[in-house]
Amino acid sequence: MAPTPLTSARARTLTFASTRRTMVSVAMNLQAAPAKTAVKEACSCSGRQTYHDDMAKTLYTEADISKRVVELGRQIAQDYEGKAPLVLGVLKGSFMFFSDLVRAVEPCPRGLTMDFIRASSYGSGTESSGDVKLKTDLKREKVEGRHVLLVEDIVDTALTITTVIRHLQECGAASVAVATLLDKHERRRLPYRPEYVGFVCPNEFVVGYGLDFDEEYRSLPYIGVLKPECYAHLGLDGAEPDGSGDSGDE
Ligand code: IMP
Repeated sequence: MAPTPLTSARARTLTFASTRRTMVSVAMNLQAAPAKTAVKEACSCSGRQTYHDDMAKTLYTEADISKRVVELGRQIAQDYEGKAPLVLGVLKGSFMFFSDLVRAVEPCPRGLTMDFIRASSYGSGTESSGDVKLKTDLKREKVEGRHVLLVEDIVDTALTITTVIRHLQECGAASVAVATLLDKHERRRLPYRPEYVGFVCPNEFVVGYGLDFDEEYRSLPYIGVLKPECYAHLGLDGAEPDGSGDSGDE
């Protein structure tokens, strides 16, 4: 099915839901999908009181993350000494990583400033179309001549981040580099390597520390893999999702 243009709040909501189904179908392809009847029985959330109960496993603990963020921050401080970087967070998923990382950039280079950009990609089936939409009030003159460090939660296919990079280059940035907490490089659709990587992430659907599933789980202080029964109620027992999807954070 061809990508559907989003024209209304309702269309956006439907598209968002469809995206999460896209993500979920990817996750379910990685783990043996339960039969539909079992899916229906398991979706009551009984016994699962908190987000913690929904985790199949923890991939990176709070301690793992904070240790790695400090290392990245020190490296970035060295590399950007005297460069007055513009640190640009890609919303929404990067908000937690962003706020920890900027505080870890020590000694903090003079002239460091911060801003944000929102990116959403619209696609059909199980893959993004690569039609990435950007939303920002960042003026061209604030980017021109600046060394920009993009902060992203996860680079997956790389369609989103490469679109953001191209936009910043068109705005006249002196340089553009990327710090991503997670690099799920197995799913790349473009040959792209971020300059700063927190962890190379296995090909699983992960949540926490800013990353969401249908806007949930962002507040978890660690990164984990969801139990299949947490998305099984969507009935995605191997079926192809339909319609267009938003794989970003709209
Ligand atoms: P890309 O354009 O395929 O690289 O995807 C980038 C966006 O997809 C990220 O900023 C996330 O919002 C979302 N995403 C990709 N993989 C995951 C995941 O495992 N969990 C949650 N969000 C994800």
